[in-house]
Amino acid sequence: MSALASRWDRYALHPERYVCSEPETTGPTVAKILDAMPSEGTVLDLGCGQGRLAVPVATSRSDLDVVAVDLSSRMLCHATYHKQVRYLRGNGYTIPPTVGRLDGAWSVLLFQHLPVDTIARYLFSLAEHLRVGAPLLAQYVIGDHHLDLDHRYQPRELNHLAQAAGFTDVTTCRHEVVYDWGWLHARRGPA
Ligand SMILES: C[S@@+](CC[C@H](N)C(=O)[O-])C[C@H]1O[C@@H](n2cnc3c(N)ncnc32)[C@H](O)[C@@H]1O
Repeated sequence: MSALASRWDRYALHPERYVCSEPETTGPTVAKILDAMPSEGTVLDLGCGQGRLAVPVATSRSDLDVVAVDLSSRMLCHATYHKQVRYLRGNGYTIPPTVGRLDGAWSVLLFQHLPVDTIARYLFSLAEHLRVGAPLLAQYVIGDHHLDLDHRYQPRELNHLAQAAGFTDVTTCRHEVVYDWGWLHARRGPA
């Protein structure tokens, strides 16, 4: 995992190479996160990068605390400060234990870089941290190929992984703007 962290450390200095930050995709994505997350409590941004989404979400919801986790320490060094956002480095496949209980979680532009076994581990780890009934929203790219950092999934594959990890009310839908992006919605099921 450290070789992967080093790769993302290198990308940290060139956000234009790794993030789709056009306003027409960021705006609808932030709106979708705000719609899915509770209005108060602690929520997780998994694979947060430099806080592109964590900061506007925290700014819009003064009662939300955001824990923002990323594999790359350099990405976090360059992250945008916000008093409600706590940045934490993760190991790349589980939620850090210090995160504690979560009232919601989202992940954007991460699953497309993860092989299926890492997504499965993350979903189990998320289920351990989320309160029963808490929402999970994850974006992914729809497709079939798996190459280096480019992993695409069919909706049914992610539905199956989420259910196996203990999530209920699992649904998928298309992203509002980008034609081959999907959203996975789920709730932490009863223990
Ligand atoms: C394309 S960027 C997206 C950042 C942010 N979610 C956004 O939308 O602006 C992908 C991020 O995922 C992080 N990342 C890659 N693999 C990871 C893993 N296994 N666990 C946690 N973060 C990871 C990278 O360091 C990078 O910051």
